[in-house]
Amino acid sequence: MPYARITGTGGYLPPRVVSNDDLAADLATRGIETSDAWITERTGIRQRHIADPGTKTSTLATAAARAALDNAGLTAEQLDLIIVATSTPDFIFPSTACLVQANLGVGGAAAFDVQAVCSGFVYALATADAFVRAGRARHALVIGAEVFSGILDWNDRRTCVLFGDGAGAVVLSAADEPGILAARLNADGRQQHILCAAGSVAGGQVTGDPFLRMDGQAVFKLAVNSLTRSAREVCDDAGIDVSELDWMVPHQANIRILNFIGRKLGLPEEKLIVTLDRHANTSAASVPLALDVAWRDGRIRPGQTVLLQGVGGGFTWGSVLVKI
Ligand code: ACO
Repeated sequence: MPYARITGTGGYLPPRVVSNDDLAADLATRGIETSDAWITERTGIRQRHIADPGTKTSTLATAAARAALDNAGLTAEQLDLIIVATSTPDFIFPSTACLVQANLGVGGAAAFDVQAVCSGFVYALATADAFVRAGRARHALVIGAEVFSGILDWNDRRTCVLFGDGAGAVVLSAADEPGILAARLNADGRQQHILCAAGSVAGGQVTGDPFLRMDGQAVFKLAVNSLTRSAREVCDDAGIDVSELDWMVPHQANIRILNFIGRKLGLPEEKLIVTLDRHANTSAASVPLALDVAWRDGRIRPGQTVLLQGVGGGFTWGSVLVKI
């Protein structure tokens, strides 16, 4: 059975940067109070990239995909599989993956979306790994892409300050050496209410609530506990100790969540890849974007062991352990 290795990464952020001060000034025009100090202290976020209204997730995803293909030295024709993790698809259908495929100018490879909110990328990566290891794909493109700005209630300061838009991608290719060492995916649907956008389209109308809602403190606790447990489990599966990790690339929700997990696992802060200060929380895009930053700036290098972790609505969480 072949192994699956990450052979390239790519990322794309919309050009418009909105600092905490910019956002606070904008909210103030609607009588909503927030500040750079509050946002920075509670979350670690200093700015986010926000797409222009009407920007499609497939556009961001395609830009990240092209960068990852280029980095891997592959052409789109060589792909057997395209998976897009997103909670903000362009359409109900066809899938965003099919739209990316068309943007890349190719046809034939399997293409579908995965919906696991902020865990979407690790779900998609574990799925692609299974395809490659089963011999059903030789080269897979795995993308996390979101335009979360379109599902935020910009009058709700408890949520609108937390998120940004963007896309990240990796190419996963069959190899003789591992690669993906182990993966764990979990969900607890009973916790769906703590983080949701519980709207739908029926009879030509939007029914329910189209905006993201969150019980921040419940999410905080569940995120810390589930990711700490998941990190230990996936390391056990691969027969390594957590202390042997070179890097951890966690979902970029909140610096306090990351620091808690790091402390519980005994991982020094320097081993955490952190981009949330610049990107904010880009949901399914956050892990591949952070991976791409550290891959390109030379921190993540061949031979290293890297833990990728996602957590989010559903409630979902997961870990993928990777040898670079
Ligand atoms: N600016 C100023 N004040 C604010 C803001 C804001 N942006 N947001 C909330 N407040 C106020 C609240 O109204 C409240 O005021 P009150 O006491 O007068 O009612 C006060 O600040 C405290 O509010 P809490 O919600 O208790 O604040 P908390 O310390 O829990 O911080 C936060 C909120 C940052 C969301 C925190 O709960 C958190 O980080 N949770 C994790 C959730 C998360 O990261 N979600 C991201 C999406 S989920 C995911 O990706 C996994």
